[in-house]
Amino acid sequence: MTNNRRLFLKQAAVLTGAFSATSLFNQAHAEAWHEAEQKVAHLTPQQVAEDEDFWGVIQRAYSVSTNIMILNNGGVSPSPIVVQEAVERYNKLANEGPSYFMWRILDQGREPLREKLALLAGTLADEIAVNRNATEALNTIIYGLPLTKGDEVIATRQDYPHMRQAYHQRALRDGIVHKELSFDFPIENDEQIVKVYADAITPKTKLIHVTHVINWVGQIMPVRKICDMAHAKGIEVIVDGAHSFGLLDFKISDLHCDYFGTSLHKFLSAPIGSGMLWIKKEKIAKVWPLLCDDNPQSGDIRKFENIGTRSFPIEQGIGEAINFHLAIGSKRKEERIRYLKDYWASRVQHVPKVKLHTSLKPAYSCAICGVTIDGMTPQELDGALFGKYKIHTTSIVIENIKCVRITPHVYTTIADMDKLVKAITEIAGTVKG
Ligand SMILES: Cc1ncc(COP(=O)(O)O)c(C=O)c1O
Repeated sequence: MTNNRRLFLKQAAVLTGAFSATSLFNQAHAEAWHEAEQKVAHLTPQQVAEDEDFWGVIQRAYSVSTNIMILNNGGVSPSPIVVQEAVERYNKLANEGPSYFMWRILDQGREPLREKLALLAGTLADEIAVNRNATEALNTIIYGLPLTKGDEVIATRQDYPHMRQAYHQRALRDGIVHKELSFDFPIENDEQIVKVYADAITPKTKLIHVTHVINWVGQIMPVRKICDMAHAKGIEVIVDGAHSFGLLDFKISDLHCDYFGTSLHKFLSAPIGSGMLWIKKEKIAKVWPLLCDDNPQSGDIRKFENIGTRSFPIEQGIGEAINFHLAIGSKRKEERIRYLKDYWASRVQHVPKVKLHTSLKPAYSCAICGVTIDGMTPQELDGALFGKYKIHTTSIVIENIKCVRITPHVYTTIADMDKLVKAITEIAGTVKG
């Protein structure tokens, strides 16, 4: 058997499995997906990205509104039906006797889930902690690192507010120095970005905080280059992967970072309220748990999971989302979502008064693109898109960034993108002056 054939059979088995669990609908849908997959098996991810029949089957695996167009998947993403059903199933089971079914039955799923996440992330299972979101994952590290008065952390004004606030609190409480750089995105030059971080380093710098994909405008940061530069100077790097994990086709081990935190309810489409923390094995012992543990200085990653009573249904639903993601294929997913972004952005790019705030080069963006129309505030554009066209987006006004952020997902269709292009073009045409 050829390698391609072997890979195809493996993928087909995974994707059929992603649908086979419950209803007749799912079984019928599994067949449709199997058929769609067979039709594109010989194509490259870039070619598959343009195949509406294939993505139509995936779109039907979601239950998103057919009336309102959801283009703020960067905020939070819906789960496919199989994931929703798994959560409902586990919830019903939990309520048959929570202390028995949650703590004795569902809890047994956590170690297999850890292994599954590790496989997806390209790490050791013993480096993965399952938690509730990126804020919890990254705050665990930010508050847990043994930084002391005068230690410097280099970060940026374009990082996510919850992480900026955590460093600010450590500055107030412990006297660390939170140095914030500022970037004018888009930037299409890795070396320029790395140099800004490198130039800010002093003998007191202990940590660099990097947002892998800048959530406001979708800029992809050269994480590995920043990590290699930092490590050469003995500095650690923490990566906010909220917008990269489950979207870009990478392994955490590719990044060369020391700490990584992400939500799973964005591009992975896991149940809402799920996240993951990764710490390089030899660094686990020195990070204090955010909450408590009987051995807080142990090297066991599970010390970060002592969060009290949690939602077992949500946690166990993550496994179904991983099945679903693997069935599509990481690279195919990345290329499809990038294709959707390029499709609408390249069509409005030259419309008078329209301005993009994101690079369209594949190395620098994927799902997210920022857009403005001269003569309108981001809030006005966001309002116009929803008011007349029922297109839901989000307006961004933070630091030096002002735009409307558009984020499609795997369930978004080209017909949706055509409607978006029409809406932006018409709105731009109504602006006087
Ligand atoms: C870059 C980035 N980091 C962290 C977060 C926080 O994610 P969560 O709300 O899942 O904690 C977000 C949320 O949008 C984000 O965009």
